[in-house]
Amino acid sequence: MVEATTYTLIDGRKISTDIKNEIAQRVAERKQLGKKIPHLAIILIGDDGASQTYVDNKVKACKTVGFHYTMMRFADTISEERLMKHIDHVNNDDDVDGFIVQLPLPDHISVEHITEKIRSDKDVDGFTNHNFGSIISKNPLLMPATPFGVMELLRRYNIETEGKHAVVVGASRLAGAPLSMMLVEQAHATVTICHKYTVNLPNYTRSADILLVAVGKPGLITADMVKEGAVVIDIGTTRVEGTEFAKGWAIKGDVDFKNVAPKASFITPVPGGVGPMTIASLLLNTLRATELRNP
Ligand code: GUN
Repeated sequence: MVEATTYTLIDGRKISTDIKNEIAQRVAERKQLGKKIPHLAIILIGDDGASQTYVDNKVKACKTVGFHYTMMRFADTISEERLMKHIDHVNNDDDVDGFIVQLPLPDHISVEHITEKIRSDKDVDGFTNHNFGSIISKNPLLMPATPFGVMELLRRYNIETEGKHAVVVGASRLAGAPLSMMLVEQAHATVTICHKYTVNLPNYTRSADILLVAVGKPGLITADMVKEGAVVIDIGTTRVEGTEFAKGWAIKGDVDFKNVAPKASFITPVPGGVGPMTIASLLLNTLRATELRNP
């Protein structure tokens, strides 16, 4: 018999607001002491609607916490060479503490070339190989933003992780892979990484004390794949179109929330779970980058 449990909903919007308030306080203190105010630059290429929305939210967040920001827009016909030159310029601009290049990029531009061109100490998305590797150092430089947000949720909800079995579904460079390393290094969990070549996925997910899913396949994780009392973190964000949604589309996670939630001890909703934490992490990284350069 499956026993229904009462689960705790992990409220990413609330935690993100708490973090923004803490950052605003630190910015106010820096201002009072005559220290440099954090400055985030955002490079946006082309006019993809979803990217524009993400970037608008980042600008809004900068305003909320009192950061300076600069928007840099380019047409999607820009060459890789010109974009590289521009990144060089921002790398060397002392007033900019951190910057991001919004993804996705047009097909003719290599994400890897662009990412690796960003100075690691200004890479506030935490995308560079250096920052990926620095997860296993005692003093990481700037942590990959989405996994950093997940770790912050686990910490702020006092979720026990030491010695627990964390199963990460998805081994992507920006989410699953760095998250797995952070769970080992910072949360002392025993980690299993599952990916598209994993045979018999439910076999692994059912043994998870903490199940973290970052695949981008709505409804992938069904109730029969989850252990009673598990912590479930849904990192999936897929835009699904449909006339049943007020806006004509909705953001869906990878977890069948309705049926999985009654089995979980803690669970993140989508939207409103991990999503808002990525921006909070970006702001935390920008503050850290500023403090490193201008203590
Ligand atoms: N595109 C979607 N999410 C992100 C993000 O967190 N950072 C950047 N740079 N691009 C994105």
